Amino acid sequence: MLPYTISETLFTAEAIQERIKELGVQIAADYPDPSEPLLLIGVLKGATLFLSDLARCIERPLEFDFVALSSYAGATETTGDVRLLKDVEASVEGKSVVIVEDILDTGLTLSRSRLAESLMERKAKSVKLCVLLDKPSRRRVEVVPDYCGFQIEDKFVVGYGMDYAECCRNLPYIGALAIAEQGAEAAS
Ligand code: IMP
Ligand code: MG
Repeated sequence: MLPYTISETLFTAEAIQERIKELGVQIAADYPDPSEPLLLIGVLKGATLFLSDLARCIERPLEFDFVALSSYAGATETTGDVRLLKDVEASVEGKSVVIVEDILDTGLTLSRSRLAESLMERKAKSVKLCVLLDKPSRRRVEVVPDYCGFQIEDKFVVGYGMDYAECCRNLPYIGALAIAEQGAEAAS
């Protein structure tokens, strides 16, 4: 028996792929010169599936890499710092960077990690943010994605890379967890 129940399917595998194709076209159009380096930086682990599909929908040369950020979960939210647990391997200097995230919720992880600022300090040409899902009603600090797959209501979602206590990342679709009190604390 599975240790969770999916109450509803929010996005089917097909709907996810359709939207990612559109995002890929939009991103390719925004970086029209193929000789200018474009670097996608996925945030582990949730964005792995999204990045791998998105990268294949951007019809121009690009590189990709990953970072790991510590979670603010468990820390008191007023003091919790978010640290960079794994940095990018390549230099970012002179590159147009797109940070690729699974879901933007409170915004605390990205803002407290100072990931975008740190990339700019290392002389990235520009830094943009691409999220598959956005829960704007949950935002606690202002973070505005440059590219967004879908806006959703305040529901805890799993699948397509996103987890509940490491479960469900491999679901090909995105679903909402049945138990309302299960929160983002268990996610990474
Ligand atoms: P934020 O710092 O609150 O914006 O959220 C940061 C991270 O929490 C996201 O990148 C996800 O890894 C995780 N997260 C937030 N909401 C959900 C959800 O509904 N399902 C799974 N993970 C989530
Ligand atoms: Mg994430």
